[in-house]
Amino acid sequence: MRQEPPNASRLRLSVIGKLTRFSRSPVTRLLRTLRVDKLFPFVIDKYYAELAFQREWTPLFLKKKDKVLEYWKRFRYLNEIIQICKITDASSVLDVGCGISGVLNFLPGKRYGIDPLAEEYLKFYQYPADLNIRKGFGEAIPFPNETFDVVLSSHMLDHTTDPSMTLDEISRVLKPTGHFVLVVEIFPSQAERDLAHPHSLTRDDVYKLLSGRFENIFERTSPWMLVSSYVKGSTKLAGEQLIMVLTKSDKRH
Ligand SMILES: C[S@@+](CC[C@H](N)C(=O)[O-])C[C@H]1O[C@@H](n2cnc3c(N)ncnc32)[C@H](O)[C@@H]1O
Repeated sequence: MRQEPPNASRLRLSVIGKLTRFSRSPVTRLLRTLRVDKLFPFVIDKYYAELAFQREWTPLFLKKKDKVLEYWKRFRYLNEIIQICKITDASSVLDVGCGISGVLNFLPGKRYGIDPLAEEYLKFYQYPADLNIRKGFGEAIPFPNETFDVVLSSHMLDHTTDPSMTLDEISRVLKPTGHFVLVVEIFPSQAERDLAHPHSLTRDDVYKLLSGRFENIFERTSPWMLVSSYVKGSTKLAGEQLIMVLTKSDKRH
C-alpha cells in the first residue's frame, strides 16, 4: 500500500477547519472574492471549499435524504447499478471520496468509505453506526489487495491530485470479479476550474484513463446539477455527468 500523498498535512487541515467554521462570514466571502486561495495556496488549499460546502449542506441532507435518493435513482441509475453489481447485504462495498451524503447511505452490504476529509467531517457529523468511515486518499487506498466486491467513485476523480494513480488503487483493492462504479462530471473541453477540482475531464479523457485498467459494461450520460440544488427544487442543469459500471481489465499497460 502506498503512503498518503504529502499534500494534506494535519496542520493545513486544522487551519482550514478553523477557517471554514466561519464559512458564511463576511470575512470568508471577502477572502473568496479576493481569490486568496490563488494567492496563498499554502493556507487555503483544495480542501477548503469542499469542507465549507459539506458543512453547509449536511443539515439539509439530513432533512431531505429521500430527495437525495430520488436524485440517485433518477440521474445516476442507482437501481440499475445495484442490479448489475448484484449488491446485497453480503457484498463488501467501498466508496472512495465518500463525502457525507454519498451513495453509501443508500446501499446494502458491508459499507466502507474513505475520504481525505473524514476526520474533519467527523467533527460536525456522526455517520450511521453501520458505515465504516476513515481518512484515506484515492491515491493510497488503506485496504489490502482484492478486498471489495464493489468500489464506487462519485464526483471524486476530478478532485484527486492524480486520477491515474487513483484508478490503479481502485483496481488493486477490487476483487477480480468485482465491479467499479464511476460517476464523473464531463466537459466539452478542458477548462480551468477551482482548487477543489484540479481536473476537468472530457469524455475521451475518461475513456483514456480507464483504458487498459477496466472494461465498460454499462454507460449512461445524464444531466448534471448539484444534488443540493436538486433537493432545493432547482431545475437548472449545469452540465453532464457520466455514469459507468466497469469490470477489471485483464490487460495491464
Ligand atoms: C464532490 S464531493 C463527492 C462526495 C460523494 N462521493 C458524493 O457523491 O456525494 C468530493 C469528495 O472527494 C473528496 N476527495 C478530494 N480529494 C480526494 C482524493 N485525493 N481521494 C479521495 N477523495 C478525495 C473530497 O474530500 C470530497 O469529500
